[in-house]
Amino acid sequence: MSDAMPVYTGPERILSGMQPTGGLHIGNYLGALKHWVRLQEGAADCFYCVVDMHAITVAHDPAELPGRVRSAAAAYIAAGVDPDRSAVFAQSAVPAHAELAWIFQCVARLGWLERMTQFKDKAGKDAERASVGLFTYPVLQAADILIYKATHVPVGEDQKQHLELSRDIAARFNRDFGGGEAVLPLPEPVIPPSGAGARIMSLKDGTAKMSKSDPSDNSRINLHDDADTIARKIKKAKTDAEPLPATTAELDARPEARNLVGLYAALTGISAQAVLDEHAGQGFGAFKPALAEIAVQFIAPIAGEYARLIADPAEIDRVLTRGAERARAAADPVIAQVRERVGYWKA
Ligand code: AMP
Ligand code: TRP
Repeated sequence: MSDAMPVYTGPERILSGMQPTGGLHIGNYLGALKHWVRLQEGAADCFYCVVDMHAITVAHDPAELPGRVRSAAAAYIAAGVDPDRSAVFAQSAVPAHAELAWIFQCVARLGWLERMTQFKDKAGKDAERASVGLFTYPVLQAADILIYKATHVPVGEDQKQHLELSRDIAARFNRDFGGGEAVLPLPEPVIPPSGAGARIMSLKDGTAKMSKSDPSDNSRINLHDDADTIARKIKKAKTDAEPLPATTAELDARPEARNLVGLYAALTGISAQAVLDEHAGQGFGAFKPALAEIAVQFIAPIAGEYARLIADPAEIDRVLTRGAERARAAADPVIAQVRERVGYWKA
């Protein structure tokens, strides 16, 4: 093997996905969805899937899963994803994801997966009882991306490690099966700058990520929350008794205050320092209503559009059918090439 690795020369393509577990929240929007929408404006093909295969790595109710997929797709569209431009589809509707995931399970090394922190967090203390699928979850994620030869993946900061694994898998595949050619791209994460929504924290604990799986709904602002709910959640959000400081450095030891300032900054598109320039010296009794007003203005159109879309499930299903057709057409030549490269029997 020569030292210089061949460089991938294929076209730019965008892929991302979210799990269909509960409604989406403002962290999902600011960390990921907002950038899905932005990237659609470029020339690259965009693929946005609802990862229902990842959803079954933990206990789930089969009767509820299709409704959750529909709801996630409606949230993508309500947030601005345009299904005429981007393929919106359910991961399980494109069997090539699973087929490539098996091949990647034979490319990825056990040691690589053992380093994944999300598995440790999700499996908890009793990892022996976790499903094997939860352990190999990031390998399926690599297949989601590389089955379209996606070059860019818009995600929040928590996905950085999974993206590094995807790059390692692609590089190893190219080395072992590329025959001197970069068959697969090394996908790049597109993560917002920290302070611009890369990592929104819980309203109840400034050191924990805002998450769909938090048992307390008061910990997050959902994209479908109404104005009163948003105002109430922000009013109840954990804070401290100090007024807002003059500089962002003084927020370092105040995670809850920092999170609310960060949320205000991300929603208005200004820097955290600019928020402090406006609000320094204010207590949370004054700052929280200002933040609530901005959050309500921001979410109201998305919530309204979501309500309109979810009332017409047949239309969402048509979008998902069309999206899956486009996705299968894009995946077909890639899986054919990969099958050939690994030496599968030509059936
Ligand atoms: P999940 O909710 O884990 O399926 O995540 C879906 C997408 O939203 C991924 O790209 C995550 O990185 C992103 N995301 C989830 N939670 C947050 C958060 N609290 N702040 C920023 N991005 C997030
Ligand atoms: N693991 C991602 C999350 O929890 C979801 C996901 C699955 C994903 N496959 C993907 C994200 C492919 C980006 C690309 O948020």
